[in-house]
Amino acid sequence: MNRPEGQNARYLADYQPYPFILSHTALDFTLVPDATIVRATLSLAPRDAATGVDLVLDGGKDVQLLRLTINGAEADPAHVTRDDEALTIAAAALPSGPFTLETEVQIDPSANTAFEGLYISGGMFCTQCEAEGFRHITFCPDRPDVMATFDVTIHSDKPVLLSNGNPVSQTEGHAEWHDPWPKPAYLFALVAGDLVAISDSFTTLSGRNVALNVWVRPGDEDRAGFAMESLIKSMKWDEDVYGREYDLDVFNIVAVDDFNMGAMENKGLNIFNSKLVLASPETATDLDYERIEGVIAHEYFHNWTGNRITCRDWFQLCLKEGLTVFRDQQFTSDMRSAAVKRIEDVRTLRARQFREDQGPLAHPPRPDHYEEINNFYTATVYEKGAEVIGMLKRLVGDDGYRAALDLYFDRHDGDAATIEDWLKVFEDATGRDLAQFKRWYTDAGTPRLTMREDWAEGTAGGTLTLTFTQETPPTPGQSDKQPRVIPIAVGLIGPNGDEVAPTRVLEMTETEQSFAFDNLGARPVVSALRGFSAPVVLDRQIDDPTRAFLLAHDTDPFARWEAGRDLALSALVALSQGQPGGDDYIDAIGRLIADQDADPAFRALCLALPGEEEVATRLYDLGATPDPDAIHAAREGLARRVAEAHQDLLSEIYDRMVVSGSYSPDAEAAAKRSLRIAALQLLNRIDNGERAEILFGIAGNMTERMAALACLIARGRGQTALQVLEEEFGDNRLVMDKWFTVQPMAAPPADAAAIAAKLAKLPGFDWKNPNRFRALIGGLTANHAGFHAADGAGYDFVADWLMKMDKVNPQIAARMSTAFETWPRYDETRRAKALAALEQIAAIEGLSRNTREMVSRMIA
Ligand code: ARG
Ligand code: ZN
Repeated sequence: MNRPEGQNARYLADYQPYPFILSHTALDFTLVPDATIVRATLSLAPRDAATGVDLVLDGGKDVQLLRLTINGAEADPAHVTRDDEALTIAAAALPSGPFTLETEVQIDPSANTAFEGLYISGGMFCTQCEAEGFRHITFCPDRPDVMATFDVTIHSDKPVLLSNGNPVSQTEGHAEWHDPWPKPAYLFALVAGDLVAISDSFTTLSGRNVALNVWVRPGDEDRAGFAMESLIKSMKWDEDVYGREYDLDVFNIVAVDDFNMGAMENKGLNIFNSKLVLASPETATDLDYERIEGVIAHEYFHNWTGNRITCRDWFQLCLKEGLTVFRDQQFTSDMRSAAVKRIEDVRTLRARQFREDQGPLAHPPRPDHYEEINNFYTATVYEKGAEVIGMLKRLVGDDGYRAALDLYFDRHDGDAATIEDWLKVFEDATGRDLAQFKRWYTDAGTPRLTMREDWAEGTAGGTLTLTFTQETPPTPGQSDKQPRVIPIAVGLIGPNGDEVAPTRVLEMTETEQSFAFDNLGARPVVSALRGFSAPVVLDRQIDDPTRAFLLAHDTDPFARWEAGRDLALSALVALSQGQPGGDDYIDAIGRLIADQDADPAFRALCLALPGEEEVATRLYDLGATPDPDAIHAAREGLARRVAEAHQDLLSEIYDRMVVSGSYSPDAEAAAKRSLRIAALQLLNRIDNGERAEILFGIAGNMTERMAALACLIARGRGQTALQVLEEEFGDNRLVMDKWFTVQPMAAPPADAAAIAAKLAKLPGFDWKNPNRFRALIGGLTANHAGFHAADGAGYDFVADWLMKMDKVNPQIAARMSTAFETWPRYDETRRAKALAALEQIAAIEGLSRNTREMVSRMIA
């Protein structure tokens, strides 16, 4: 195996079990902001009594060791060594049988700006331990295959003291928790704060009563109800669909304002970024509500897929994340519209995962090496990990899938498992050989699938032969790609628009393979890759009239939407290259707008033009160099033409899609709003913001207000509305995050970097808060032509902030650095400027391991 990344990388191939067994962990916290004392009692035993190996405990520089005893006796300092990452106790100092190791350490949560380990957010103590945060709390084997039961005691004057498992005792200033389910340290959590709960309960399948609490800061109670509803729905759904029941007496959710990621599935104590808990119609958009429902479900579902069955090592991260994303996607499809959810998921996959897979950061869903694991919480591990499971399910069928999952829970409950274990349950439950399928886990890159059609009239009454070829472009460290198993769902539509062959899943295993359809009478139109049956790029010879035909007649909603999107992309590609285009799209979209029978959410998805980056990607796929300014102009121009051509239909939709009565975030109401907004966004190009201005003033919900605000900003007339919003919500962090995002994001590209720079100087730009940082920097990078401005202002602004953030919170800096991952696609001038920005970051002395790994992969 080649090891290209230098000596800091860790390799899957090097896996060794931990040489000790940790059966129980007792922790005692005395919480003081700058001098917290942690006493840990670890019940250890050598895995193999004869070997006599040293005991290595993970522990960062920020953990100050005060005392260490083994079986109650002070350890001889000569046997204890420390470096920046670990504490080592020489084998000579260890008993040959089971022993108790006690440590007392001091840590400083108030100085923890990286939000990893124990830190303080808004006066509340909280933790984030995945992936390797526990080692910043105390010394311990901080790896997912070391699992123990926990007892936790907390001393603090905060009124609410929480940890994992079940409560044992609660008195003033003191609480004890017991978690009977063995777990790795990354699932540990502690919260201490001045919190209030909204509470409910749930009775499980077997009659266990579970107390449910959503803990928030006083004053936020009235925005926590939707999270609670979502939790109850999730618990019920996991019982109904997977037969999975909750296993403790309490389930606590806590919302915190400073959080590096979305949320965390700590056993019985999920900790959430407050933006994924708090929602009211006045402050949250429909999309916020949908995300809250989905992420609450995601974290809850981890209780089985992640906690009861965890990962053997971090290379297996997609074992829990891919599966849990797949489960939360199923849940959302069941709660809302399955067709719409699928289209949204494919859009996200293409925008984030395909982009990753096609650039310098490409890696397999199961990587085989990394330097910093936090850099691998990626779209590939999560979203592609979920797609791979979707393919598995398509291949083995619904019953096969259910049988395999039952076997998985049965066989691996309590285990730290691997992708091999996962595939084995599918093989054992269904009798299928998955050796070739496994390449989806081990190989990076998005396969290109080419489809050729051959039509023969005659003997069999007309035969259509589809010939597919697959090829995966090389990715970093993987130049040679073998063919994969690709499930290709295909349907055929007759010339009159009727379906002549219902969906059939073709199973491709070779580099080139043909499939024949007989007795067709007349030549049909092929509806290919229905439901996006595999995460591939499909290449086919198809003209715009045929796309328009599919948009009108396809029975598969994904394929139908895809036909419209392809029409739009083909127009935008031509227009951005100075060629004519768009007439077929404008006609076809007119028919769809007029189609009252189609689902409003579906129509909204079809009406929204592909984003500028999507156009850039298509151009790059076609071998052209995308010009962000030309793409922006082409998209604006086409939007204006659509609005002019269909002005009457669009304004009719805009006037009719008003949801009456009080706001509800349900799918049906949200669908109407989304169609109305799609119409508004087009009309905004020709009414100079008239409608948007009125809507901003009268809308009673944040969905329409934010949409109107973005329209106003795009027309250069957002100032008053921005002031209104600031006056109304200046003290609401989540709303002000939106305020910071929308300005650089919706601005005309030429102004975007300057606007971001101006906003960064405001006192409200509390940049150490991850949400606020992401809001502003992410708002700019979401403005494609603005971030990629030819003068390099966007690159410089982002690079400056990444360097600043890296010193404070390396995880956030490293993650946001992915804004640069597409830099090799652009022209010479832009490439030189982006590369200079990356090189400037790379040259920083003391750059974090996180950012260093990301930047060096992007430069390589
Ligand atoms: N397991 C969490 C989730 O997907 C994500 C935690 C990631 N944390 C991190 N520091 N990388 O729900
Ligand atoms: Zn997860």
